[in-house]
Amino acid sequence: MTVCGITARTGRADVVDDLLNGLKNLEYRGYDSAGIALQNGDGLDVYKRQGETGDLDADVRRRRPSGEIGIGHTRWSTHGAPTDANAHPHTCCGGDVAVVHNGIIENHDELRTELEAAAHEFTSETDSEVVPHLIEERLAAGDGPEAAFRAAIDRLEGSYAIVAMVDGRDAVYATRSGSPLVLGIADDGYFLASDVPAFLEYTDRVVFLEDGDVATVTASTHTITDSDGAMIVRTPETVDWNPEDAEKRGYDHYMLKEIDEQPDALERTLEGRIDAERGTVDLEAFPPGSFADVERVQLVACGTSYHAAAYAQRLLTHRGIPATAHRAGEYAETANTLEHGTLVVGVSQSGETADTLQSLRRITDADARTLAVTNVVGSTISREADDALYIRAGPEIGVAATKTFSSQVATLLLLAERMAADVDGAGSDDTSAVLSALESLPGNLRTVVDNTDAGAIARRANGRESHFFIGRDVAHPVALEGALKFKEITYEHAEGFAAAQLKHGPLALVTDDTAVVAVFTGRHDEKTLANVREVQARDAPVIAIASEDSHSVVEAADELLPIPDTEPELAGLLANVQLQLLSYHVADLLDRPIDKPRNLAKSVTVE
Ligand code: G6P
Repeated sequence: MTVCGITARTGRADVVDDLLNGLKNLEYRGYDSAGIALQNGDGLDVYKRQGETGDLDADVRRRRPSGEIGIGHTRWSTHGAPTDANAHPHTCCGGDVAVVHNGIIENHDELRTELEAAAHEFTSETDSEVVPHLIEERLAAGDGPEAAFRAAIDRLEGSYAIVAMVDGRDAVYATRSGSPLVLGIADDGYFLASDVPAFLEYTDRVVFLEDGDVATVTASTHTITDSDGAMIVRTPETVDWNPEDAEKRGYDHYMLKEIDEQPDALERTLEGRIDAERGTVDLEAFPPGSFADVERVQLVACGTSYHAAAYAQRLLTHRGIPATAHRAGEYAETANTLEHGTLVVGVSQSGETADTLQSLRRITDADARTLAVTNVVGSTISREADDALYIRAGPEIGVAATKTFSSQVATLLLLAERMAADVDGAGSDDTSAVLSALESLPGNLRTVVDNTDAGAIARRANGRESHFFIGRDVAHPVALEGALKFKEITYEHAEGFAAAQLKHGPLALVTDDTAVVAVFTGRHDEKTLANVREVQARDAPVIAIASEDSHSVVEAADELLPIPDTEPELAGLLANVQLQLLSYHVADLLDRPIDKPRNLAKSVTVE
């Protein structure tokens, strides 16, 4: 079972560099082990090993292979250790079929038993290895390569994106069902990959393959057919991501680059969507009245996107729209009764997170409407939901989400304003004030990233046993997000709490070795200040994130990370950027692999 990134390249005399580069670009999807297979005119060559793509790269270059067609894989193991044997590509007994797979083959036990009974020998513990053996079986029965590929795929249950090569055939065969796969069309051939950044520096012309599509790609042609073999015409799209956005551009880490580019990302998110003077929001595909029938909202998401959803829950309820936020993995258990007028909003940066996709798939009730809020045009969630709203943040490579959180919350605030205007009786107290604060948000974020003291405070705060993050109202999801970021990239203990909740249990853990980070937005500050005093009475040092105009907070705090004065609903976003920077600098001091934290992957396509 794997999450991972897959890639393929055709059309050049030697594809090795492009394949290795594609894997490096996809490493954010997994980095436990990696491999490539090449068609070199004289059989299939496979190079694979545990470790990061950099280790594979060094190995491959030492051995100087070449090939005209190749496939590659970088793995995030969920089952089967990250060993050389479990790394992809997987091959069949005779070595003339090589396969890379992303997803889970649920009936692999049964298939393996059947294949072993037919004398196939397996060399890995993965579910994926059944695929090359199934293809081999059909080839032996007399099928041509494409027919053998189709017949093998027909046997699979589960979710997958698969690319295969057969010795002697100058083509790759690809299909998907529930896992992402995109075809890149370059002037000199083709790419296949789990995600566009794999090949963005070569081409921006893409076809997002759909479930059931079978693509046969040679050096100069591609055909797409449905599962019955009937031709399908899919018009290529041009992605408007800038290749430079997917590069590090002199930064030590993608994460810091992506934190710094939040003002630009937000400009793109907001562009053309706000008229602050008239107090109106223009959401392209959603003209006024689009949400007039919405009576309540359920937001469903994972990880950082869940925190954006929890933030949006507050934004909606402030406007009189009943809303709840749900962790996607738990959604089926907690929210399966959908009353008439429910809008279910799936929030997902990648648009490929299995838990979130499954939550939406469980909604079969015709009365409920689904909306995807995502960064990736053409992603699975954007196609499966009734409608899609894009956050327009540009590609995000660091495993820890940063700029996409800001763009998600800004987009969800626009959505909340649109809904409030559409739904009778609901309305923001002061739409114009919020919208003009939104217009100032990119500039305010610039002020934060250009003037932050997070590096100095990180040096002073580093080394505490525990780190608590607290806040109330919109600052509560920000506290949760601050703690998530901190634990993800520093590996230090961190927890986020609703400020009021501290005294109901967690206070028992507070000592002078607990750093408490308190988020203030200008709303309910006095109450959070009382919570700060409770921890200070137990000798815990407090870092406050607040406007310098909040004099009582500034006086009480041991350290201050200031944010520009703004509407409380947006202060949480500014505070979050300071928290991102604090985590980043502590992780940097501890020399952690910031862009690729251990055991994590950016896009988790298994439940
Ligand atoms: C993984 C990543 C998180 C991310 C979450 C949801 O857990 O490590 O950083 O927030 O997935 O991803 P999505 O693409 O659905 O927003």
